[in-house]
Amino acid sequence: MSTSNEKTDKILPGTWPPRRVSLSTSKRVSLKAGLVVLAVVAFTFLWSSPFAIGPHDIHEQLETNNADICPQVSELIPRSNFALWKALGDTYGTDAFKMRAVDWLAGAVKIPTESYDQMGPVGTDPRWDKFSTFYDYMSTAFPLVHSTLELTKVNTYGLIYVWKGTDSSLQPLLLAAHQDVVPVEETTIDQWQYPPFSGHFDGERVWGRGSQDDKSGLIGIRSAMESMLENKFQPTRTVVLASGFDEETSGLHGAQTLAPVLLEMFGENGYAMLVDEGSGYGEQFGRVIATPGISEKGYMDVMINVASPGGHSSIPPPHTSIGILADILVNLEKNPFEVHLERGSPTYMSAQCLIHAPELPASLRRDIIHAERNEGALHRVEQELFKDPQFKSLVGTTQAIDLINGGVKVNALPEQAWAVVNHRISTQSSVSATKQRDTELLTSIASSFNLSYTAFGARITDADAPAFGILTLSEAYTHGLEPAALSPTGHDAVPYQLLSGTIKAAYNSHRGVSGDDSLLISPGIMSGNTDTRYYWKLTEHIFRYGHTDGAGGGSLSSGVHTVNEAITIGSFVEMIRFFTTLILNVDESALP
Ligand SMILES: *[C@@H]1O[C@H](CO)[C@@H](O)[C@H](O)[C@H]1NC(C)=O
Ligand SMILES: [Zn+2]
Repeated sequence: MSTSNEKTDKILPGTWPPRRVSLSTSKRVSLKAGLVVLAVVAFTFLWSSPFAIGPHDIHEQLETNNADICPQVSELIPRSNFALWKALGDTYGTDAFKMRAVDWLAGAVKIPTESYDQMGPVGTDPRWDKFSTFYDYMSTAFPLVHSTLELTKVNTYGLIYVWKGTDSSLQPLLLAAHQDVVPVEETTIDQWQYPPFSGHFDGERVWGRGSQDDKSGLIGIRSAMESMLENKFQPTRTVVLASGFDEETSGLHGAQTLAPVLLEMFGENGYAMLVDEGSGYGEQFGRVIATPGISEKGYMDVMINVASPGGHSSIPPPHTSIGILADILVNLEKNPFEVHLERGSPTYMSAQCLIHAPELPASLRRDIIHAERNEGALHRVEQELFKDPQFKSLVGTTQAIDLINGGVKVNALPEQAWAVVNHRISTQSSVSATKQRDTELLTSIASSFNLSYTAFGARITDADAPAFGILTLSEAYTHGLEPAALSPTGHDAVPYQLLSGTIKAAYNSHRGVSGDDSLLISPGIMSGNTDTRYYWKLTEHIFRYGHTDGAGGGSLSSGVHTVNEAITIGSFVEMIRFFTTLILNVDESALP
């Protein structure tokens, strides 16, 4: 069995992923055409493809060597678009381009597109108005994108740009990035090294709110497109660019209104793949690992409300509403959700990929390999990896009591007390399972305090029995969000493998290296949510990935959502390389 990366990195003949035969004679090659087409394409490139690896090869590897539980494709360099890719890559390496990229990004950061909770509809709440300035900025900064792509505005500030390909039978690539940023708290402004909306460039970093999340993605895509247009690139496959404007406050006005328009444009499952913001790459156990998010945890806020008789504080009952609520909350924290690493879950797949990391302890590597069939090994892997609380949080359903309120006066018994618990729901669970668990956990407390109990609209206790007070559980603010379905990642999941090869090519070309030793690709998961929550119908191949070191929603190490958000210009240019490579690779792929 292979415990190093030596086996998977071996160069095998064949072609991966399947590509259209050539641009000039391009004929749609549908995956549905199956093995025949695959064989033809494989034959065509059998000898011309030094770094390609075929799905069948991986399959054989899996069968002959079941230790290979995290198959890797090789870096994927555009072939029919190679000259353009190379020329752009050279341009991106120049100081002149870096300064251009600084200007593009800094200009965007300077416009404070903050989105706040509870904003009124567009047109009534003036706080949306700055998105008009932002739109003007982007139109001016990217003149070719603006003049070449077809724009549809949705709910005024939502933007859908369609870059029409020459072959309209091909499903488009969908790229998403949001325009809004998390507000900067007034009280923290003096903690910023440079003012949060300065877009200051200190020679290495562009500073400011949004420089990572997600203006690096939004401007990175446009910078790639503008550069490609300047080089007269004409896509074969349509590229669609969708930009919401309130992702940081759940996308109610933005992505939610964009979704039906996108659906109408190309239909259900009408997009080849979708890439939106997400986690990037970072070192784990001595190996740089990129973790495109193949799923997202679910979300639910639960309001716990306790009501009991009011009255004068001088003749109190043994427990007030506040006392009872406190007991409930203590009980909740004493009972975290049971968390298990389950085979087939995204976090389990992440664990499997660690076998390729050189500094993984040998015993853990052995257990990960055996966990596929051995319960004891799976349990040991779980115990070991759960020592990292962040990993454990990604696996299970979490609970955090984030709000509390109760009482109005020091000499009056509180008639009401409430708290809100925020849940992030495991990919292996659901909104209803989470409701059921909360409901059951509080049943005995409700009866011990003699409370009538209603949970999520259902009466739990006998309606007619006299009770001291009332306990109510309900969904706060919005309806719960189910965890996202897993995007396919198997060896025949072309979009995932194409993304993987693209990440490697971008990473390598930025460093002037080649080969597959540098970077490993592993399925990952988002702990937070993105605008993709509204896009599930558009494609099953949804990836949350930002090609930077520890950027995006996956990590908070770069000032994301806090003070001193900044990005190095090197990282930003590397993102531009990533988007360029992705667009070119998808353009010449044989995706449907
Ligand atoms: C519950 O509270 C009601 C109202 O205060 C009271 O009539 C009833 O006896 C209590 N039941 C128990 C079991 O304490
Ligand atoms: Zn974001």
